Amino acid sequence: MAIFGKKKESFKGRGLALEEGVIIPTHIGIIMDGNGRWAKKRGLPRKVGHREGAKVFRTITRYCSEVGVKYLTVYAFSTENWKRPEDEVGALMGLFKSYLKEALEDFKDDDIVVRFIGEKSGFSQELQELMDENVEIAKDRKGMVLNIAMNYGSRDEIVRAVRKIGDEVKSGALSPEDIDEKVVSDRLYTAGQPDPDLIIRPSGEYRISNFMLWQAAYTEFVIMDKLWPDFKKSDLDEAIRIYSQRNRRYGGV
Ligand code: IPE
Ligand code: IPE
Ligand code: MG
Repeated sequence: MAIFGKKKESFKGRGLALEEGVIIPTHIGIIMDGNGRWAKKRGLPRKVGHREGAKVFRTITRYCSEVGVKYLTVYAFSTENWKRPEDEVGALMGLFKSYLKEALEDFKDDDIVVRFIGEKSGFSQELQELMDENVEIAKDRKGMVLNIAMNYGSRDEIVRAVRKIGDEVKSGALSPEDIDEKVVSDRLYTAGQPDPDLIIRPSGEYRISNFMLWQAAYTEFVIMDKLWPDFKKSDLDEAIRIYSQRNRRYGGV
C-alpha cells in the first residue's frame, strides 16, 4: 500500500485532490453498475447508458493509475449478463469491440498493463482476437495492471480452479494434502495478484453479484449512491478517503 503524497513531485500539475497521508489501496475492484438506470432516468435506451459508462471507465482507469493504484479490476460483463435482451447484449459486444480497437491503445501513455479475467471462449472469434492483441500490446508495460472482468463469474472461476486441481491430483502432480489456500488462489484468473483492498460499487446496490468471492475475504466495501455514468474522479477520491479511515483487523484485535 502506498501513502499518498510521498512522491509529491510526480503528481504535480495533474489536478489530484487527495490529501497527503491518505492510504492508496494497492488493488481496487469496481463493479461498474447503474448504466441502465442512468439511461432510463433520461428516457434513453439502456445502450446509451453503457456508452456513457464506457467513457467513465476510461477516465477512472487512468485516474487510478495516476494516484498510484497498482491493480485495478473492473467488472464489465458477468456470466449472468448473457440473460439480458439480445439487443442489449449486442450493444455491449459492439462497445467492447470499439473499445478494444481504440481506447485501450490510449492506456499506452499511462503504461497500463491490460489483462482479461473471465471465460474468453464465450465471445466471438473477433473479440477474442482483439482481447489477445490488447494483452500482447501491453505485456511489457510497467505500470498499473488493469484486469477487465468480461464473462466473469466468481463461482465459475472457483469451479474451474477446482477442476484444474482435480486434474492435477488425478495425474499425480499434486497430492490432496498439499492443497492449501495458495494452491486455490494460484488457479484463479487473478493468480499472482494481491487480493483487492477496496471494492467500490456505485449505484447503491448492497451486493457482490458474483464478483471476486474468494479474493474479497477481507476486502473493504464502499457502496456509493452515484450511478456509474455519473461517477467522477472526486468520487474515487471519496472512496479512497473512506477506505483510508477503515480499521482493517483481519480477524485480529
Ligand atoms: C452495469 O450497468 C453494466 C453491466 C452490467 C454490463 P447495468 O446495465 O447493470 O445498469 P442497471 O443496474 O440496470 O442500472
Ligand atoms: C454486476 O451488475 C455486473 C457488472 C457490473 C458487470 P449487475 O447489474 O449484473 O448485477 P445485479 O443483477 O444488480 O446483481
Ligand atoms: Mg446493474
